[in-house]
Amino acid sequence: MVKKNACVFISGTGTNLNNLIKKSREYNFPIKINLVISNNANAHGIKYAKLNSIKYLLINNNIRNSEQKILNELKKNKVSLVILAGYMKIISKNFIKSFGKTIINIHPSLLPKFKGLNTFSRVLKSNEVKTGCTVHFVNDKLDSGKIITKKIFFLKKYEKESDIKRKTHSLEYLAFPEAIIKLYRKS
Ligand code: GRF
Repeated sequence: MVKKNACVFISGTGTNLNNLIKKSREYNFPIKINLVISNNANAHGIKYAKLNSIKYLLINNNIRNSEQKILNELKKNKVSLVILAGYMKIISKNFIKSFGKTIINIHPSLLPKFKGLNTFSRVLKSNEVKTGCTVHFVNDKLDSGKIITKKIFFLKKYEKESDIKRKTHSLEYLAFPEAIIKLYRKS
């Protein structure tokens, strides 16, 4: 099968990146990760690109024309899917329009609930019965694009923020690959 080129944007630990690199090695998985972009030079996740000999670039958002530089790299590397995996920067309307191809994001809540930051503490405080993660298309409003897939778990009494984080993360490793397969499934 001809795999589509994908670029993963990260800012931190990169465990979703690592999981997607592993999945992308499977014969039937529809994408190949040929580029990783980090806006944080200290992002732990860069090591997964290095370990797997994937081209990576550090592009600080404070430099002039940073978005244009990223767009040029996406074009140069024939990227047709951008995957935001813990990328702590809002993508501009202009970027979405200029790239013109698919951009997806993973969010650690059941959207449309708990958009934005500090998700786990807000979930905990609001006495939710269930939570989970959501993969969605990126549009010009934060965490608001069309939903591709969600994974749910039920909260137990006395669960701590760290428990919710761990459980959400493990569901993310299922949700992202599933969403990507769904994107390229011929219906
Ligand atoms: C994930 O929880 C994701 O939902 C959020 O950022 C976190 C990234 O984790 N957008 P990692 O860097 O993939 O470990």
